[in-house]
Amino acid sequence: MKELLNIALPKGRLGEKVYAMFAKAGFECPSILENNRKLIFENPELGVRYFWVKPSDVAIYVERGAADIGVAGKDILLEYAPEVYELLDLNIGKCRMAVAAKNGFRDDPRKTLRVATKFSNIAAKHYLSKGRDIDIIHLNGSIEIAPILGLSDVIVDIVETGTTLKENDLSVIETIVPISARLIANRANYKFKSEVIDTITRELALQTEA
Ligand code: PRP
Repeated sequence: MKELLNIALPKGRLGEKVYAMFAKAGFECPSILENNRKLIFENPELGVRYFWVKPSDVAIYVERGAADIGVAGKDILLEYAPEVYELLDLNIGKCRMAVAAKNGFRDDPRKTLRVATKFSNIAAKHYLSKGRDIDIIHLNGSIEIAPILGLSDVIVDIVETGTTLKENDLSVIETIVPISARLIANRANYKFKSEVIDTITRELALQTEA
């Protein structure tokens, strides 16, 4: 029996979209659509095994080779710089990394800027490039609350529709980088499974161009 290709999918709405693209590319695994709490699904005929992992963990599975390929947000790739191959921009899960603050916020360059974020490395790099002195406050979620409660001056976070900011009287003051979902591969495993990985990449690319 041939070895299965292990594919890490980000659990959630984005992952469902990603799976639909893989299925359309010819690598379906119908059991994945059954509504249960299983996390691993195989289709031995087509040689694929899919598993659902937390979106921010996909790159860890791929970097360490537990998954051969996977789909991760560019935000995670920029923040953690995992040693993986980035094969394709899937052009879905589009959003941007931005700096936001309370409406009407004015930066005082004489003061250290307090920045709350889940993306400490991205924030540090951004402000280093501007030569701006900052104090990073690392949070794990609900970042938007920080400036409201005076914990920080600004936040660096993902903005998709902008609704979260709007409903909390915050607004974008600067866009750092556009974000989208990327197909990634483990560097060593890619060498052994390049044929099937290249086929998948090519098929997915056709869908992103369509
Ligand atoms: C993300 C992000 C923002 C929100 C942006 O949060 O951190 O809070 O989505 O989306 P919007 O612009 O469409 O409102 P997520 O749901 O991942 O949760 P968390 O950051 O609070 O963990």
